[in-house]
Amino acid sequence: MTSIDTRPALVHAPSGTDGEWWRHAVIYQVYPRSFADGSGDGIGDLPGITSRLPHLAELGVDAVWLSPFYRSPQADAGYDVADYRDVDPLFGTLDDFDALLLRAHDLGLRVIVDLVPNHTSDEHAWFQAAMAAGPGSPERERYLFREGQGETGELPPNNWESIFGGPAWTRVADGQWYLHLFDSRQPDLNWEHPEVRAEFEDVLRFWLDRGVDGFRIDVAHGMVKEPGLPDWDGHVSMIEGSDEPVAGNGNQGPMFDQDGVHEIYRAWNRVLAEYAGDRALVAEAWVEPLSRLARYVRPDEMQQAFNFAFLATLWDAPALRAVIEASYLTADSVGAPTTWVLSNHDVVRHASRLGLPVAGSRPNGIGHGDEQPDEELGLRRARAATLLMLGLPGSAYLYQGEELGLPDHTALPDELRQDPAFFRTGGAERGRDGCRVPLPWAADEPGFGFSPTGVTWLPQPASWASYALDAQRGVSGSTYETYCLALAVRRDEHLGTGGLAWADSYGDDVIAFENRDVLVVANLGSEPVGLPAGATVLASSTPVSGGILPGDATVWLRRP
Ligand code: GLC
Repeated sequence: MTSIDTRPALVHAPSGTDGEWWRHAVIYQVYPRSFADGSGDGIGDLPGITSRLPHLAELGVDAVWLSPFYRSPQADAGYDVADYRDVDPLFGTLDDFDALLLRAHDLGLRVIVDLVPNHTSDEHAWFQAAMAAGPGSPERERYLFREGQGETGELPPNNWESIFGGPAWTRVADGQWYLHLFDSRQPDLNWEHPEVRAEFEDVLRFWLDRGVDGFRIDVAHGMVKEPGLPDWDGHVSMIEGSDEPVAGNGNQGPMFDQDGVHEIYRAWNRVLAEYAGDRALVAEAWVEPLSRLARYVRPDEMQQAFNFAFLATLWDAPALRAVIEASYLTADSVGAPTTWVLSNHDVVRHASRLGLPVAGSRPNGIGHGDEQPDEELGLRRARAATLLMLGLPGSAYLYQGEELGLPDHTALPDELRQDPAFFRTGGAERGRDGCRVPLPWAADEPGFGFSPTGVTWLPQPASWASYALDAQRGVSGSTYETYCLALAVRRDEHLGTGGLAWADSYGDDVIAFENRDVLVVANLGSEPVGLPAGATVLASSTPVSGGILPGDATVWLRRP
């Protein structure tokens, strides 16, 4: 057995206060079309979410983030917004939203909504007007229309590519081209235009007036482009020692992380300050290194930013230790909380990523014919990763279904795929549908209880019966009960506002630290590790006995 013989090195001091909920909150992402279906059409909706909110209260999260439910032709599952002030009939009505918010607040859950400001839908009234008005019109000024290159303008204005594959420009009938960093049905807005800025401040107020607690800002690093829209030299920075780009999904170049974007967030910070209470903006900004990310959470900008560097790190103790340490150093330098996240609607779920031969690697989707993850090993590691994450001070994000230990659907037939990335890459990327499959609530019901009719917009793997909520609730040691216990201990021990001091003497494959009175030990290796004698187990990702922590497992301990 190893004992602690070195003085812990303090990396992050406890903040000692529970004020400002977003500094320590556990926030649960609801992906509306796949959470719960109230209407029976096979697509989740707002009444379905409201009916299941008690589940989230029981689980013990502090807040809910709702992915987009606004009016949209659903070309990118709602991240193509046609009307920012209305609910799509697919998901319900504004009254349904108000009812959801009221119920959530009654249950003590905060609610943040998604704002998609980089682009609109091609069905947005502004884009329709721009198409009708023609070249040189004020209507076209709200978007990024340009003449093409070549003798007759037959070539795109520059060499930028869409994140979803293919060119980032589409030519319209009158010969002009418009920019879309994502799908051609998601035209980029011109954020140099004062009307665009005014409109989004007004949209913020629309939802703040309804009582939301904050916003998740989609593509927060994308709105401002380098002046003149120059060609990109294509240089991509890679993670040291790997063939993975540092910022995932191709988010590099003159279209991202421009200094000018920060003025927008300073303005939005002022809008939030007009409202009483404690509201928050969280940046979805795929930027690296972490020091660039910290710029989005300076005191007069946003409150939080997703820590994708953590999500992107392989299952490797030294690498994770380094990213954890860097996360605190950079966030502390601007007085912001660190966030932690392992899964969301854009990446293969961590239970599947961690079962891949290179544990934690990030293919854009897994399909039949692809190398399949080891489901059992992936789940074991996913639980260990989650307990590591929830033991860390700061705010943590959970993605719906991870509390059940769900893997991706890794064998979806291609003909059922809907993600535009699948089509724009000619199938080379499977896309994100595998992490968006409707949740299993009840093992013995059709559609695993997702909808009253049993219909589900994507098929669920048969193996999901064992993951269903009702198969795990009350079963000690199940993934669901492990999440509930960890969230309860995290709350009772005030781990979210705690500090981090490394406990160093466990060897290279182990991440061990103290947060307040709790010792967290995560063993990422395969060799068992001895634990301090007489310590009490507060929570563990896998059963722990005899003072030994097996491989791919995390334990939370209280010393004697
Ligand atoms: C963000 C969203 C993703 C969407 C994209 C375009 O990355 O999380 O789902 O496709 O932005 O809006």
